[in-house]
Amino acid sequence: MKKYLVTGCAGFIGTNFVYYMLKKYPEILLVNLDKLTYAGNLENLKDCEDDPRHVFVQGDICDKELVTGLFEKYDFDYVINFAAESHVDRSITNPETFVETNGMGTVNLLQCAKNAWYDSETKTWAEGKKYCQVSTDEVYGSLGADGYFMETTPLCPHSPYSSSKASADMFVMAYHDTYGMPVNITRCSNNYGPYQFPEKLIPLMINNVKNHKKLPVYGDGMNVRDWLYVEDHCKAIDMVANGGRDGEVYNVGGHNERPNIFIVKTIIAQLHDRLKDDGIDEGLIQYVADRLGHDRRYGIDPTKIKEELGWYPETPFEKGIVLTIDWYLEHEEWMNNVTSGNYQKYYEEMYKNK
Ligand code: NAD
Ligand code: TYD
Repeated sequence: MKKYLVTGCAGFIGTNFVYYMLKKYPEILLVNLDKLTYAGNLENLKDCEDDPRHVFVQGDICDKELVTGLFEKYDFDYVINFAAESHVDRSITNPETFVETNGMGTVNLLQCAKNAWYDSETKTWAEGKKYCQVSTDEVYGSLGADGYFMETTPLCPHSPYSSSKASADMFVMAYHDTYGMPVNITRCSNNYGPYQFPEKLIPLMINNVKNHKKLPVYGDGMNVRDWLYVEDHCKAIDMVANGGRDGEVYNVGGHNERPNIFIVKTIIAQLHDRLKDDGIDEGLIQYVADRLGHDRRYGIDPTKIKEELGWYPETPFEKGIVLTIDWYLEHEEWMNNVTSGNYQKYYEEMYKNK
């Protein structure tokens, strides 16, 4: 039975990954280490709380003693590091926590994995081990109208978030190049789907539209993101962990580029029709001040993962957005719970000057 340390899996992608893996592998152990920051939500995991294949541990990936103890207890085969501060807007107001979790946290996981898996006397790594870093296309910076991010594109991050993720990627490769650690890095485009915290574009807009709140579109609304349904991302991570070539980076995306304003208008049209609510129309759109340093366009070239591992995105955007809106409509209580309390304060602070 394979044993995984999965971090940050009370958040959006990690939660989806836990369900994906439990469904796919009858025999598996997932030890889920999550600090439960504002973005982590134990309610996400209630459908597997009685499943002995999933063990939740509340804690910080920066905590050396804790992570060392987990390696001693479980003798992991894999580390899959999802844990991160993940929101660009928050990184602009508070960069330090991004350096701590995304940078120092990653180095701590790498060091603990090395201590557990590397025999310094024989200078060999234990068989069958791998460290996988879940990174982002944002480390490549911003594209103009043409071209795509390839694995060979130089790193050129702009935001404090993407800079901290790029730094983490470099440490992962440093552990591979210096110590021979078995690693992979995945760099994925924007995800959407169930359990995403409503500070990110799609769930924020769904929530605002439902409540007839203004829809804050940054700048001219023509920034482009390459949207990927979260389950397709989970599948890619599993494939890379179990088949990726040692020391390689894999870009994950599906040629599904859309300008932000298209996304917002799609959500308006869908909810207008589904809720039969004439109070929902494009008059809710409010163009607001642009994000500082706002990257113009992201676009992934996924040729490598397709050719080497046979991965492709199964969910077209037209289907994925319907599944996503279905989920949020069916999980009103989840949305109410995550938007009560601190979320209101966050929203007022973040959008008051926009
Ligand atoms: P998220 O913000 O929804 O979840 C992050 C999780 O990490 C939360 O559960 C949080 O409690 C936990 N966490 C934060 N700091 C921690 C710490 N110090 N120790 C332990 N746990 C901690 O993020 P997400 O959208 O699920 O993203 C997961 C990963 O995927 C991140 O590494 C992110 O950079 C990457 N990624 C995200 C996207 C996207 O579109 N969401 C795209 C590409 C890559
Ligand atoms: P976001 O979901 O924060 O992801 P990222 O910045 O990591 O790509 O934002 C996606 C796009 O939507 C980005 O171009 C910024 C834009 N955006 C808005 O226009 N309004 C908003 O309220 C938010 C949160 C994002």
